[in-house]
Order: sequence, then structure tokens, then C-alpha cells
Amino acid sequence: MGGFLGFAWNQWTFKPKPLAKDRSLEGTTVLITGGNVGLGLEAAKEIVSHRPNTLILAVRDVEKGQVAKDAIAKESTPPDVNLEVWELDYDSYDSITAFGSRVQALPRLDYVLLNAGLKQMQYTTAKLGHETNLQINHLGTSLVSLQVLPALIKTAKATSKPSRLTIVSSEGHFWIPFKERTAPNILARMDEKDAFGRQMSRYYTTKLLNVLWARELASKVEKRDVVVNAVNPGFCYSGLHRHEKTGIIKLFLWAFGWTTQQGGYCLVDALVQHGDSHGAYLSEQKVVPPSKFVLSEEGKIAQKKIWKETFEIFRKEAPKANISELESNV
Ligand SMILES: NC(=O)c1ccc[n+]([C@@H]2O[C@H](COP(=O)([O-])OP(=O)(O)OC[C@H]3O[C@@H](n4cnc5c(N)ncnc54)[C@H](OP(=O)(O)O)[C@@H]3O)[C@@H](O)[C@H]2O)c1
Repeated sequence: MGGFLGFAWNQWTFKPKPLAKDRSLEGTTVLITGGNVGLGLEAAKEIVSHRPNTLILAVRDVEKGQVAKDAIAKESTPPDVNLEVWELDYDSYDSITAFGSRVQALPRLDYVLLNAGLKQMQYTTAKLGHETNLQINHLGTSLVSLQVLPALIKTAKATSKPSRLTIVSSEGHFWIPFKERTAPNILARMDEKDAFGRQMSRYYTTKLLNVLWARELASKVEKRDVVVNAVNPGFCYSGLHRHEKTGIIKLFLWAFGWTTQQGGYCLVDALVQHGDSHGAYLSEQKVVPPSKFVLSEEGKIAQKKIWKETFEIFRKEAPKANISELESNV
């Protein structure tokens, strides 16, 4: 929808639903990044209740992942799901590459939910040197998407059924001016402190990059192999808002917020339902148009430019990630 009234209306009137009880995920392998807390954990619980063969929680802190695994096992009724915790830090190319090798050795991978993310309201740089929101939400998510692709495609060919890849974005992608779009190098400009902007604008810009990346990836991958989409989980209670120092966020959550569980329902819905959502953006559990900018000619040019600049960064900074090999899939 985009505008504030639309946002408020949807948050008030729409009630996200879990999957139908009889929706079976039997035999499948599902992977969720950032599955240890928040929306990712709630999505994991919902997935387990539909009995996949294996659920992998890919987390940056394995101890936290283990706690989450125990909580899921305790709550879930079917005890026969193989629950695994894997290490994955979006702020380390070594971690992403090691994770990628592990994923590529999986016998099967049907569903991947790229959910890990953060909202930094102050300018900081990540360990890898990029502005933190840019590193985690865009560069980390994008490199992981390329790492999981071969296993998703292999599984689709073996099962004769498309695998699924969902990238978690936000309605906030509608709400930013995206001034960096005219810079000679968009991502380099986003690393500069004076381009950071106010409040949540940088976070939302990286959520716009999630939509653009999902669309460009979808344009390069056959939908019979992998259905790629982006989802807005809605405005929900979670640790995401921990860096907001004013009380306004509490007021907003009280007035409009969905529960963490409801946000998890939206993620699972985008991941396993909507087989016709290749390249689409989902919100309130349905396919809806993304922002006007995304659909504009300018947006399409920015989408291709960001794709190219992202690959340039990976080639330069992540030599062990076998980018040329990964690029052969797209
Ligand atoms: N909550 C909302 O209202 C809302 C609205 C729109 C979109 N979203 C999106 O929903 C997704 C989940 O957020 P959430 O609300 O559940 O927030 P959250 O509770 O803060 O969870 C974020 C998850 O991302 C992980 N993460 C952060 N940095 C990471 C890194 N360097 N490497 C690997 N994992 C990392 C966190 O791990 P740790 O536990 O180790 O920090 C955690 O598992 C995010 O992509 C967010 O942008 C949320």
C-alpha cells in the first residue's frame, strides 16, 4: 500500500493466519536464517508443526541457536523433525562461504527463508567495513542467496517441483527518498557517513535493496527451478526495534503492532504458499505491487546497477566465495 493510512488500516484490520492444519511439508528440508529469535523463531515453530524432514536454523550465535532449538522441540507436537543449528554470520565472508559449502553438500533443500537482519539507527560500520545496515541486510542477504541457489536448483530438478527462496523486506521500502540512486556508485555512496540520513531511512533503503535484489534474482532464475519472492512481515513486536531510543516506537507498537507470531505466519505464508509469486512482493499474505519507484524505469535501472555493484564487491572482498561459479547459476 505504501502511505501511512494504508499501513495503519492494514495493521488494524488484517489478522495474519497460520497455514492450514493439513498443509504438509513432509520430506522437505527448510532453512531459516536468523531463526533463533523474533519472526524467524516464530516462523521456525510454524514450519515444524507442518512436519518437514529437516529444519536448519542458520544463526550467528550457535549457543543462542541451541536455546531456540530446545524451545522449538519443547513446544512442537511432532517430535520427529530433524532440527539442526548451523553457524552463519552475515558480517563474515568466511562464515558465509563455509555455510555455503555446507549447504551445497545437503542431499536436499526445498525452502530457504532469508530473514536475518537488523535496524541500526546510528551510522556504524560492520566488521567488514561497510555501513552496518548495508552489510547485514543487503550484502549478507545477497551473498547467502547466491550460496543457497545451487542446492535449491538441484532439489527442484530431482523433485520436478520448484524450490522456494523468500527474502524478508519491509513496507518501509515505500517510504524513503533513496537519494543515493543518482550516485555514480550507489553502494559506495551508501557507505559514506553523510549519506546515512535520519532515523530509519537507511534501514528502509536496505529493505528496498532486498526487493530489488529479489526481483533481479528472479529475472535470472527459471521459475520452474526456484520461485523467488520478497515479503513484508508487517509491523510486529520483536527485538528489531531495540535501537530506537524514543518512546514513540512503543506507542506505535501498542497502536498498530502485530504479535511476533503473526509476523512469523506472514513469512511462512510467503515461503510455502503462492507458487505463482516469482519475482513478486507479498504483504498481508497476498501478492501486491511494490513501491512505484521499484516499478519505474529509474527503479529498473537502479536494480541492474545494484546487482552489478554487489557482484563487484563480492569479487573484490570475498575471493573465497567462488563468485564466478555462483554467477553461472544466474
Ligand atoms: N519486526 C518488524 O516489525 C519487522 C518489520 C519489517 C521487516 N522486518 C524484518 O524481519 C526480519 C527479522 O527481524 P525481527 O523483527 O525478527 O528482528 P530480531 O528479533 O532482531 O531478529 C533478527 C535476527 O537476525 C539475526 N542477525 C542479525 N545480525 C546478523 C548477522 N550478522 N548474521 C546473522 N544473523 C544476524 C539476529 O541474530 P542475533 O539474535 O544473534 O542478533 C536475529 O536472529 C528482518 O529482516 C527485519 O528487517 C521486521
